[in-house]
Amino acid sequence: MKIGVLGAGRMTEALAGRWITAGHEVFIGGRTPDKAAGLAERLGAAGSGSLREAAGYGDVVLLAVLREGLEDTLAAAGAAEGALAGKTVVDVGNSVDTTTYTQVTWDGRSMSERAAELAPGSHLVKAFNLAYSEVWKTPPLYGGRPLAVPYAGDDEAKPAARRLIEDVGASPLDAGDLSQTRHLEAMGAVVIRRLFGGADLSSTFAFLASDK
Ligand SMILES: NC(=O)c1ccc[n+]([C@@H]2O[C@H](COP(=O)([O-])OP(=O)(O)OC[C@H]3O[C@@H](n4cnc5c(N)ncnc54)[C@H](OP(=O)(O)O)[C@@H]3O)[C@@H](O)[C@H]2O)c1
Repeated sequence: MKIGVLGAGRMTEALAGRWITAGHEVFIGGRTPDKAAGLAERLGAAGSGSLREAAGYGDVVLLAVLREGLEDTLAAAGAAEGALAGKTVVDVGNSVDTTTYTQVTWDGRSMSERAAELAPGSHLVKAFNLAYSEVWKTPPLYGGRPLAVPYAGDDEAKPAARRLIEDVGASPLDAGDLSQTRHLEAMGAVVIRRLFGGADLSSTFAFLASDK
């Protein structure tokens, strides 16, 4: 797949690195061009540039930005003008007030639902938000079994999400439609509270792979 990335932080470093190893072509777009270029060079990405260029690259877009930057990032990517229309957008974001460890919503809607509103015509799916970024850098095995990664969102986006979850060595677990991303983000608050409290960085909201 050709994957354009919005955001040049820790989650991009972890996930894009694995996807490049798996044979995908990745273009890293960032608010800070030097940071995106440096990360692209370290990972051996196909290229780097602006958020708008990343939005235009390929059929899949990784959205990996802090909640505070969601609206500015999608605006700079040209989402309101249709730059993400028809594309699968994989959102890894968490939206948590880390002073109280409570989920921050947009009138009850999740960060992924807000992203979908800001990017008309795109196909949103949320995944990878329930573990620290380091977890994604190696195949996530727990007790010898692969981690099952819940994903939720639009049906059109799910085949790509499943493939990208499998490409980090994890097992996809369908958690429902876009409205269910509210619950994945709430689970994210539980994980973040534990991590900020000093839990092992490999701790995760873990489902283990099963046939059902
Ligand atoms: N790190 C984790 O372990 C982890 C785990 C699960 C989920 N997540 C979620 O994944 C998303 C990305 O996290 P990350 O750890 O990769 O973040 P990060 O390392 O802090 O990088 C954040 C990225 O967002 C960009 N950004 C755009 N607008 C911003 C603004 N107004 N304020 C701050 N940053 C802004 C930053 O731009 P610059 O490059 O210009 O700084 C940077 O590229 C977040 O929603 C986070 O909650 C993170």
